[in-house]
Amino acid sequence: MAAEVIYGKQLAEDLRLEMKEEIAELSKEGVHPKLVVVIVGEDPASKSYVKGKQRASEKIGMASDLIELSAETSEDELLHIINQLNEDKAVHGILVQLPLPQQIDEQNVIEAIDPSKDVDGFHPINAGRMLTGQETFYPCTPFGILVMLKRAEVSIEGKHVVIIGRSNLVGKPVGQLLLNEHATVTHCHSRTKNLREHTKRADILIVAAGKAGLITGEDITEGTVVIDVGVNRVDGKLTGDVDFESAKEKASYITPVPKGVGPMTITMLLHNTIKAAKWIDQK
Ligand code: GUN
Repeated sequence: MAAEVIYGKQLAEDLRLEMKEEIAELSKEGVHPKLVVVIVGEDPASKSYVKGKQRASEKIGMASDLIELSAETSEDELLHIINQLNEDKAVHGILVQLPLPQQIDEQNVIEAIDPSKDVDGFHPINAGRMLTGQETFYPCTPFGILVMLKRAEVSIEGKHVVIIGRSNLVGKPVGQLLLNEHATVTHCHSRTKNLREHTKRADILIVAAGKAGLITGEDITEGTVVIDVGVNRVDGKLTGDVDFESAKEKASYITPVPKGVGPMTITMLLHNTIKAAKWIDQK
């Protein structure tokens, strides 16, 4: 039986409409959620992601600024800008686009952002809060995946979730979020032996390896929920880590690339920024 396709794009549009209304309500109370995105250098993929974030925030009436810095920016210069944004009461969310040029230590930058403005959820304080099951900013892609699964009414509790990838941005936090939802979680990665033995045992398979075509229909069992986080360019075309055509024949649900997880990442960033504005307003 062919899978039901979960389009994050449609869900993202619905959620953004709800957020647009929420922003209009907040503005009546004098709260104007504002996101500042910082980009260092000229990486075309990063520039295109950042443009998408800006466009999305403008579309829902959220204030946003883009700070574009040259590829030669020093770590001190960047930390100075982050400090200013931390101090600026009109700014609720700060996002520094990763990766950063090699002269800048990413972890130092992540740790310089005020945790209450860390809408990426990358600061160790927020990562620790998530680890210990507390309410906080969750990293946007993992959070988007959780929301997609819930909206599709995929049950998570007691299910075996297999994740391929262990990055700080996706693999590790998505495992943590789903563990918090009472899943049994297996993390696979580049050193995992006999990958297929693991993927075949998944109720929910999350693929975030960055390798086009890594997973095919042969790697899954009938009824698996397949979430493809991969973003690869093959012959100029955007594709995920999963061979959609073969996997779709066996999966119960599957996300496409594009129009799958991607649009949810930006949506959860907007959500986190509204949350930050509401939190700060309560202080
Ligand atoms: N680079 C790729 N994805 C992300 C993200 O979610 N946040 C940031 N800050 N950089 C990224």
